[in-house]
Order: sequence, then C-alpha cells, then structure tokens
Amino acid sequence: MDNATHDSGITMEKIVSLAKRRGFVFQSSEIYGGQAGAWDYGPMGVELKNRIARFWWKEMTQLHDDIVGLDAAILMHPRVWEASGHVENFTDPLVDCKKCKQRFRADMIPPDKLAKKECPECGGELTDTRKFNLMFKTNIGPVDDGTGLIYLRPETAQGIYVNYKNIVQSNRMKVPFGIAQVGKAFRNEIVTKNFIFRTCEFEQMEMQYFVKPGEDEKFFDYWRGQRWAYYEKLGVRMDKLRWHQHGPDELAHYAKDAYDIEYEFPMGFKELEGVHNRTDFDLTRHQEYSGKDLQYIDQDNGNARYLPYIIETSAGLTRQLLMLLCDAYEEQKVADKGNDDDWRTVLHFHPNIAPVTVAVLPLMKKDGLAELAQDIRQGLKEEFATDYDQSGAIGRRYRRQDEIGTPFCVTVDYQSKEDGTVTVRFRDSMEQVRVHRDELEATLKKAIKDYRRA
Ligand code: GAP
Repeated sequence: MDNATHDSGITMEKIVSLAKRRGFVFQSSEIYGGQAGAWDYGPMGVELKNRIARFWWKEMTQLHDDIVGLDAAILMHPRVWEASGHVENFTDPLVDCKKCKQRFRADMIPPDKLAKKECPECGGELTDTRKFNLMFKTNIGPVDDGTGLIYLRPETAQGIYVNYKNIVQSNRMKVPFGIAQVGKAFRNEIVTKNFIFRTCEFEQMEMQYFVKPGEDEKFFDYWRGQRWAYYEKLGVRMDKLRWHQHGPDELAHYAKDAYDIEYEFPMGFKELEGVHNRTDFDLTRHQEYSGKDLQYIDQDNGNARYLPYIIETSAGLTRQLLMLLCDAYEEQKVADKGNDDDWRTVLHFHPNIAPVTVAVLPLMKKDGLAELAQDIRQGLKEEFATDYDQSGAIGRRYRRQDEIGTPFCVTVDYQSKEDGTVTVRFRDSMEQVRVHRDELEATLKKAIKDYRRA
C-alpha cells in the first residue's frame, strides 16, 4: 500500500482504517484471506455510494432537460465487444519477472529498466512484453465448450450505444440529447493497490451526449465546464483538482480528444473521471457489425440523416467515493488539554451525501429524555437519514458522528422537556444553537441548502 502523505498528512492507511472501523468499506471475503481487486461496502459505505449516485443522477437527469436514464444489462451480446474494439484493443502491456515471478504493467516500469529487461523489484530478467486483455470472460448456457462465450462489461457506455435508437424512438429525443447510466463494470486489472482506487469490480456513472457532427467540439467544451462545476457543487476542495489532456499516445482507440479531471489523492494526482470526444466511432462500428441502420433522422431539417457524434462523461462511482473520503478527512485539534481528546477525526461531507444527515442524542437515558429523543427522531425520519445514540458521554457521541461525517447532531436535554427546545450542533464549526423542535426540520433544510465547506 502506498504510504505517501499529501500536505494535510492524510495517508491511504488512515483512510482504509477509518473505512473499516466505521463500516464504509471492508475487504471482500476477508475471513478467507481476502479477494484482491474486490471490496464490500458496509452500512455507511452503501449509504454514501447511493447518495453519490443520486447526486450525480439528479445533476444529469433532473437538472438537464435533454438527458434521460437507462439501466442496461451487464451481459451483452459478445459481438458488442468486437464492434467496440475492446476484444482487439482493450489490453494492458504485461511483463513477468523470471526470477521473483512478479507481474507488472510494462507502462509502469521505468523506461530504462524496461529497455534493459530488468525487474524493478529484484533486478531479475523480465519476459518480453505481451498484450493482456482486461475483459473477464465467462460462459452462458449449460455447455462450457466456448460457444457460450460472454464478457462481463468493462464499461457501461456500450449499453447506451446499442439502445440509442430505442430511446430516440420511444422517448422522441432530438439531437442534442444525452443518456445517463450508473452500473457495475469489470476489468481484470493487474495492479489493484491503493484500496478501492483501481479494482476489478467497480461502478461507473456515465453519460453519453449525442450531437450533430461539427458541433462536437462546442459540446465537448460545454461538458468539461459542467463536470468541473459538479465537483464545486459537491463541496470538493477545488485546489485538489486539475485537468489533464491526453497526449496522442494516451488517447483511447475511440477518442479524438480527451481530458481527465484528476484529484490529488494521498498517492498523488490521479484520474477521477474522463470527458471524451468519441466522434461517431462507436455508432459507425455498431452499424457495421449489427447491420442495422443507426442513423439519426433529423425531422426538423428535411429528414437529414447522420450518425451523431458522442461526447462522453465517464466517472467512477467507487473512485469518487474514495476521493470524497480523502477530501472530507481531517484530523483537527479542538482542545488543548494534552490528551487524545484534544483531537477529533472529522469527515466534512456535503450534507447531501453524508450517510447520516442528523443524529439525535439524549443527554441522559433516564428521566424520559431517551423517549423524548426517540419521538423527535421519529418526526425527522421521513425527511432525513437519522441515527440515534444514547450510549457514552455526549462528547464521545459527537466524535463518533464526526467520524462518519454526520453534519448535524440534535441533543435533547432537561430544558427540552420544559420548553420543547433542542440543541442543534453543526459538525464543521461545532457551533450549537437552540431551536424549538417544531422548527427543527426547517432549520436543518435551510442549513443543508446554505451549506458551504469552510
Ligand atoms: N467509457 C469510458 C471509460 O470507461 P475509462 O477512463 O476507462 O473510460 C472511466 O474509465 C472512469 O471509470 C475512470 O475515470 C475511473 O473513475 C473509473 N475506473 C476505470 N477503471 C477503474 C477501475 N479498475 N477501478 C475503479 N474505477 C475505475
């Protein structure tokens, strides 16, 4: 595991440790020693993942009138992957060390060592570079004789391309328009270090925007702007993001132009998502391989026919989750007593994506405070993701909520019994205000709407 730190001292090990301790992410099949390249999302992790997906989905579909959704099957006709170029081109260059038997991606070995065929770990001799296809193959049907070959999709995008005509026809979409999809993808990755950054099973949030040829560059710029603004809205520290334009040797086989948004993870700047100009490559190939006419008929322009160009925004959902954990993480000094309590670990999630939005905490279990707190929680449940915690000192309970990124804690005390008021404690500032329980919902909703990361 990469142990490097960036300026705020976050290491991947701290993130992994918190993720396990607080139920965000567990190693897959841990009791059997773990399964490389696969991770399980615990109670906090699945909430966070679902919220990120919902945030993205709202951004794409609800806030863009011309984008609709799709949920295509993972298993697709194998010809799809011949047409897409994945069978031929979706490969990593691999080398093995004859001495220590380790396997490497050739493009990750320092060029001088690769030229000398020298293992970067033990100095042993490396094999020749060979192409390794990243698609997982399996078999469909009762006979395993190769006739039922089927792939686990390595990207969700192809499900969109093969359905584009269905969607134009069923939903009367007019170019330019987009199709959004969230779903699993699988790649037989050789290097799977750095926690959930690069895994064999992961989730993508992809949107394919169909445009008139010639308008592709304009919409490419537009979507770059939209994707940058998305992260601002999500409350990400924008100084941790940067653009990286693909050089000619980096461009995927389908792309005319491509930019990555990179985030400064603990191991350095790495790709977070890509914005690609895929031209008419995919539709041309599917038209050719399927024999079906995939041209768009422009009824507003004399029934002109053309294959639309495609601008793709392709984000990794699970990678975004890792980014948000890293971005939100802070070890903060909050007192000066010279003991462990001086520090808190806090996740500064945007309230819209925090796994728990509001925790209700009775100051004491006794004297009817627990019952009152439960009643208040009950009243909030319909609108917010809530938690309830009555065990331990109140300070400890705040810290537990800080560690999972709960933006608001509501404390119920003796005064609450008298006058119906409660304390709302804000995670980031730790400021506390007293409000009447009847105003609680409106207070929280306003705080969510007005939220800005300090
Ligand atoms: N449809 C285009 C496409 O799939 P990509 O750059 O290969 O493009 C897009 O992948 C995004 O998917 C990446 O920016 C990353 O966030 C995520 N991703 C790709 N491979 C991944 C892996 N092995 N594990 C986790 N996320 C991955």
